[in-house]
Amino acid sequence: MYIKKIVALSVFISFLFSCKSEEHRTTKISQIIPTPSTQTINPGYFVLNNDVGITYDDNFKTSGDFLQNFIETGSSITLENNDDITFVLDNSIEHNEGYVLDIKPYEIRIRAKTDRGAFYAVQTLRQLLPPEFENNTFSEETVSIQCMTITDAPQFSYRGMHLDVGRHMFSVDFIKKYIDALAMLKMNTFHWHLTEDQGWRIEIKKYPKLQEVAAFRDETLIGHYSDQPHQFDGKRYGGFYTQAEIKDIIAYAQSRQVTVIPEIELPGHAQAAIAAYPNLGCTGEQVDVATKWGVFEHIYCSKDETFEFLEDVLDEVVALFPSEYIHIGGDEAPKTQWKSCNKCQERIQSEGLKDEHELQNYFITRIEAYLNSKGKQIIGWDEILEGGLAPNATVMSWRGIKGAVEAAKQKHNVVMTPTSHCYFDYYQSTNPDEPTAIGGFLPLEKVYSFNPIPEELNEDEVQYVLGAQGNIWTEYMPTSDQVEYMAFPRMLAMSEVVWSKDENKNYIDFTKRVELFNQRLDMLDINYANHLYEISGELISEGDTTAYALATTTDNKTIRYTLDNSEPNVSSEVYKTPIPITESQTIKAAVFNSEKRLGSTFSETINYHKAVGKTITINKIPHKSYSGSGPEGLINGISGSDSRYGDKEWLGFWGEDIAITIDLGEDTDVKSIKTRFHNGKGQWIYAPKEIEFGFSAHGIDSKADIPTSEKNIVDVIIKANVNTRYIYIKLSNYGIIPDGNQGAGNKAWTFIDEIIVN
Ligand code: ACM
Ligand code: ZN
Repeated sequence: MYIKKIVALSVFISFLFSCKSEEHRTTKISQIIPTPSTQTINPGYFVLNNDVGITYDDNFKTSGDFLQNFIETGSSITLENNDDITFVLDNSIEHNEGYVLDIKPYEIRIRAKTDRGAFYAVQTLRQLLPPEFENNTFSEETVSIQCMTITDAPQFSYRGMHLDVGRHMFSVDFIKKYIDALAMLKMNTFHWHLTEDQGWRIEIKKYPKLQEVAAFRDETLIGHYSDQPHQFDGKRYGGFYTQAEIKDIIAYAQSRQVTVIPEIELPGHAQAAIAAYPNLGCTGEQVDVATKWGVFEHIYCSKDETFEFLEDVLDEVVALFPSEYIHIGGDEAPKTQWKSCNKCQERIQSEGLKDEHELQNYFITRIEAYLNSKGKQIIGWDEILEGGLAPNATVMSWRGIKGAVEAAKQKHNVVMTPTSHCYFDYYQSTNPDEPTAIGGFLPLEKVYSFNPIPEELNEDEVQYVLGAQGNIWTEYMPTSDQVEYMAFPRMLAMSEVVWSKDENKNYIDFTKRVELFNQRLDMLDINYANHLYEISGELISEGDTTAYALATTTDNKTIRYTLDNSEPNVSSEVYKTPIPITESQTIKAAVFNSEKRLGSTFSETINYHKAVGKTITINKIPHKSYSGSGPEGLINGISGSDSRYGDKEWLGFWGEDIAITIDLGEDTDVKSIKTRFHNGKGQWIYAPKEIEFGFSAHGIDSKADIPTSEKNIVDVIIKANVNTRYIYIKLSNYGIIPDGNQGAGNKAWTFIDEIIVN
């Protein structure tokens, strides 16, 4: 138990130091991420120096060790053994992970019910110390900490980050660095995606070929999957984590209150394992470890032999990982091979199953029963809902939130990771200089805006939402620097989504804290993306006048712009009010802090065509995750970016035919109409099957098949040469995604860009 030793003298000394605290480095405002539940700033400072002491007992070993080490390694300060800083076991604190951090001029008290709660108090205190502590370079003898009381607890119990080490692999040191970052942000779960078509990364002693064969691929795709023809680097790539390394990582994570959940993918994403042991597949065919991205037909066969293998693998996994959960994948398992496999068809017969979807359920349920018998629970991607849900499974909802709603209504726990808000492999900026990413557009603000609780759930069902997670799929992240670039600062936003109270969340306030937090990330040598000084623009139409508004998120900065295509500099026009637009125009702008230019150049070309500012209606509402700037965005003179189909100029519809009407206000000569569609098979996005045009004079009178294309963008232009007030456009959705493609069996998305009327 904790022993209270008040040393009156130390109180007196601390008080004396606090009187001259203004001379010392101090944190004057609260800049904590994720933002705490309540914080009260009090007068005075706690002065941290060599005279200060710390005590903690075994109840708070992890958090006490962490704090002492952080201070003593981070600076030249050595702590004495007394209770100036101490930890108090307080069972009156409601939440297991909650804490109270009380900083007074003469003492710091951390109160919590668990070591984990105290650990989060320590992470808060850490963020009140100068960033130099992070890389052990704080060389002053004293630091003053603003007095305050923080009462804090998380909103969600599952606060996670995922990392795919199958597509690209990262060093043990990097995995630890990643776990460190999670812990700093009060996240408690590291979802380690360990097996993939392109590489098996966990040592399984009983099956040496997993190490010799499945862990290596012959070469890797160069560039983006949609760049045709595919090219490869010709370099063998791979590796795996030994069980000793895995144990070391798990222990490291435990000392930071992070649970590691391993993912062993089944029945799909299994090509690497099948390359090592072809008998695990349906065909027995010798295949290679995959060298490009996507979804592959080779999946585990449902014969007993495969289950024996999987059970052996899981035995070793269970022995290594203390987590309650084992993630068993379950996503993107094409059923083609099961359909033509005698063994799988026999299984369907003997088990009285209806089809291959029920076979998927059989597969998952059988694995679940095995893991339950070992005292573990399963978690799986939302495809595990196919053909019925295994009795105790937790669902990770990634294809939107439908899976989560369905599972919670069946009283199953869910973790939210919808692509729209949680896929950090998507682009985070529309800047054309961004490194190649898988596609999509998920800026910081959109992550921040995420509410893990689906509106469709009632009060009773909400309890099944455990929390949320950011996902890092690494097809386009060959280096750890690149992983960091994609993870930060979006991980900061996610930490606040899962930890902070909704009423305390404010994006502008968050960006101010991110600006400060970046200094800490610099000290931690984390290669974060910085889009804080980028500009967003919006075309505003009111009556007959149109103007272009510019904005940037951070405060106290100046935007300067040009209209002559030149680069903005310190003497360019300062932006004050929206810029009137009367013709096609290119606006370039940048953010300045007095004389210093901060971010990259913003450039927007406004195509002042005949429909700009006119009226548009669409018979369907765009999907709420991709509603851009609404239907008006299709005739605002601004085109979306080529690869970021999720930016505000694109509209996304899921599986629907749509009818668009544009009212030009009066009869107008229309020579041509041009639009374009995004095409991204990997993201289930297809150009429509067919497009029809019509005019007020004739009704629908022109139909065009849209050619299938491998390109990212499909352009459509029709010559009209009519005089018309109304333009009608009908789009037929591509339909169900055919077998052999990513997302096979699901409805295709349609993404449409600006409709240019000339
Ligand atoms: C996934 O993104 N295939 C879960
Ligand atoms: Zn089979």
